[in-house]
Amino acid sequence: MRSYSLTAPAKINLYLEIIGDRPDGFHELVMVLQSVELADIVDIQSSDTQEIYIHCDHPEVPVNETNLAYRAAALMCQTFPEMHANYGGVVIKIHKNIPVAAGLAGGSGNAAAVLVGMNLIWKLGLTQPDLQDLAAKLGSDIPFCISGGTAIATGRGEKLATLANLDDIWVVLAKYDNISVSTPWAYKTYRQQYSESYICDPEGVKSRTSEVHSSPLLKAIADEDSAEIGKLIYNDLEKVVLPEYPQVAELKSAFAAQDTLGTMMSGSGPTVFALCESKDKAIALQQQIRQQITDPHLNFWITKLSSGGIQIKSST
Ligand code: C5P
Repeated sequence: MRSYSLTAPAKINLYLEIIGDRPDGFHELVMVLQSVELADIVDIQSSDTQEIYIHCDHPEVPVNETNLAYRAAALMCQTFPEMHANYGGVVIKIHKNIPVAAGLAGGSGNAAAVLVGMNLIWKLGLTQPDLQDLAAKLGSDIPFCISGGTAIATGRGEKLATLANLDDIWVVLAKYDNISVSTPWAYKTYRQQYSESYICDPEGVKSRTSEVHSSPLLKAIADEDSAEIGKLIYNDLEKVVLPEYPQVAELKSAFAAQDTLGTMMSGSGPTVFALCESKDKAIALQQQIRQQITDPHLNFWITKLSSGGIQIKSST
């Protein structure tokens, strides 16, 4: 029986705009999603029993059915019961490099890897769009995590259009390991504070979405103009997360005072990222911030934008 080792990259949001409410209780969004090279490793193989087993080397990651990777495997078992009966359950081993509860889609990426991996070990022959339809049942970011790269996401975040690759830009990620932000809390608080400005009619949502499609940021991405991209990155959720978490706001201000292409919180946070022209600049930037903020709970990662989603690292 084959086993696969997959890389599951983190994502950052170069743009996140909340347009309005959806009938399903979620928000209508326009986002630019971007993979980075920092990635978890997800090993997957068939088990001798019908069960789904999760192992993870990070103590804060649950290894039960609350883990998105477990739910991805359970969805595959439900959707393809004959394959489940034939091949048995799966053993999933997650090696965490991406910080958890960070706004970097680490859990979503692990679930995406499980869908891709089970498609391979069960020889299902599902296409990327087939896998993305399944992924959308599990979470809004998971379809993007499968294909990765640079994409504009609309609807709940599950409708994707691919954009130009931006893999020459370096990134410094910074996160306090003692701060985590609940994504439902961030969206709920945003709704409480900003729902008066929500666009409600479907035509209005469509027209705002198409405005973003032809916005200066999208042009800068098409031109691969990193200086312009850095100036135009944006995240609505900063409006609720930064006031509630002053340390994150200070971290962002510290980055903004340095020579970067641009700095922003990713997703619902609390990770703050800064874009840099080169690896040397990224290293120097990290050192500057480290000198200013000596709190040992603050961790840094230097990585690069990446054009890939879930990739096969090795198979045996
Ligand atoms: O889809 P996902 O499980 O990643 O979403 C996490 C939470 O974020 C949802 O429960 C919801 O509160 C919020 N959300 C939203 N609108 C979206 C995506 C997420 O309100 N489009």
